[in-house]
Amino acid sequence: MPTQSSCGTLVEATSCQRDRSPLVDPTEGSRYRLAMVCGTDTPSREWLHPGGQYVVSTDPARLDLDVIHGFLRESYWSTGITREVVQRAILGSLAFGMYATNGGQVGFARVITDRATVAHLADVFVVPSERGRGLSKWLMSVIVEHPDLQGLRRWLLGTRDAHGLYAQFGFTPLKAPERLMERHDPDVYTRPPVPHGGS
Ligand SMILES: CC(C)(COP(=O)(O)OP(=O)(O)OC[C@H]1O[C@@H](n2cnc3c(N)ncnc32)[C@H](O)[C@@H]1OP(=O)(O)O)[C@@H](O)C(=O)NCCC(=O)NCCS
Repeated sequence: MPTQSSCGTLVEATSCQRDRSPLVDPTEGSRYRLAMVCGTDTPSREWLHPGGQYVVSTDPARLDLDVIHGFLRESYWSTGITREVVQRAILGSLAFGMYATNGGQVGFARVITDRATVAHLADVFVVPSERGRGLSKWLMSVIVEHPDLQGLRRWLLGTRDAHGLYAQFGFTPLKAPERLMERHDPDVYTRPPVPHGGS
């Protein structure tokens, strides 16, 4: 039964459909991992854009890893990231895919969260051909209204130049930066991997 929310129509709650997922590798190990994650986000949710031309879904089976990895490996914040790392990041996140109702994936964001106290928003993008139509604002409104992301004490994100987007959804500069610390390794995706073990 469709229900209305301020960010569009929540059209349906679907169960995880892992077998048609482009995220699933043809190995039992990968299928098992995806099933585990789907179990934490059941049912997945879907919102229809007020104009009817776009959908946002949290169904991992709908995500197009080619589009997501293709964008992220060229982005300023994750240049060179491998497909495998993107896949693992998605599997550990509440991921939001945005799709043209008559086409493919046009946007993405993911939230790393315990669904109780804190959430970190990451990897927000809209494909170039669909920008300037308010889609990132709609995606943000869907994300901040997600039922699993209510009552959190803190949301975090990093951005180089999109502060004005996130400010519209209550994000501010850190009020007390001296109280937050980080371990940052910006070259981790481009450095040759260190082999494990061995003598
Ligand atoms: C940033 C991005 C997601 C915006 O998507 P979009 O659908 O074109 O944006 P919208 O049409 O919903 O409008 C974005 C709003 O944020 C504002 N804004 C602030 N900083 C912005 C920025 N760096 N880029 C785009 N919009 C920005 C716009 O002015 C607009 O507000 P307004 O309508 O009140 O004027 C898109 O340009 C993108 O994917 N960029 C590349 C990836 C990126 O930088 N992602 C953010 C990483 S933190």
